[in-house]
Amino acid sequence: MSTTSSIPEILSHTDNGVLTLTLHRVDKKNSITAAMYAAMADVLEGARADDSVSVLVIQGHETIFSAGNDIGDFLNNPPSTPESPVFRFLRAISTFPKPLVAAVCGPAVGIGTTLLLHCDLIYAGDNAAFAMPFVNLGLCPEAASSLLVPQLMGYPRAAEALLLGEPITAETALEIGMINRIVPPTEANALAQAQARKLAAKPLTSLIETKRLMKKGSTALVAERMNEEAASFGRMLKEPAAREAFTAFMQKRKPDFSAL
Ligand code: COA
Repeated sequence: MSTTSSIPEILSHTDNGVLTLTLHRVDKKNSITAAMYAAMADVLEGARADDSVSVLVIQGHETIFSAGNDIGDFLNNPPSTPESPVFRFLRAISTFPKPLVAAVCGPAVGIGTTLLLHCDLIYAGDNAAFAMPFVNLGLCPEAASSLLVPQLMGYPRAAEALLLGEPITAETALEIGMINRIVPPTEANALAQAQARKLAAKPLTSLIETKRLMKKGSTALVAERMNEEAASFGRMLKEPAAREAFTAFMQKRKPDFSAL
């Protein structure tokens, strides 16, 4: 078993062909800074090229998967170019050719949910809650979620999730085919590992080709939509609605959009 840890908030280790990436910033609800996006992009890019890695598992903590972008970090260092860490991470995960398995417990907010749209198998704790409150933050969807969420759950449910920003419970996520199974939170990481080990025992060339073929119809559309979303998201981050939403979060108050 080899262990590497790029930065303390992102842990990664490889064991028998399974690379496990753990979000490890629980005191800040696993919110993701630019440095963490860069570290995760590095892990994904390394795993893509490493023949000894067959499967990648992404997991958080039993109480929290991720609160999404670190809002303060985003305010101070908004992503401005395609090479910004968040966009590097999104490209790396959305084009990752090998199986991606996720274990999700507790809240998965913003990119905490949209990154899952690019995972192949998702095991959730019964405390999982998936939310994409981009509109509430004065933003628009990212990670091709404006394309993939309506495809996945149909337009009416997508509108509740993306326009109202209403969280999706684990039970609903299972019912609409967003996740594979619900287990007690203490068992989610172990189940993801067990499924990943099953995959890692199979021929890698077959896994890669099967994933490629299953995704072929959407690969170009996903890349195109992610670029369009990124341009809008980057512009909207600097606009008054997002500034108000982010400042309100930092000041622990409700945003007031009435003057905008
Ligand atoms: N960015 C930065 N810091 C965050 C954060 C984020 N996205 N989410 C949580 N934190 C920080 C809080 O500021 C708090 O820090 P403090 O202890 O220094 O005050 C700490 O993490 C704990 O968060 P708290 O809100 O008290 O935890 P909770 O259990 O009551 O709620 C969440 C958890 C995830 C539901 C809630 O934190 C939340 O909604 N976060 C914002 C999610 C969001 O809008 N993300 C989208 C970003 S684009």
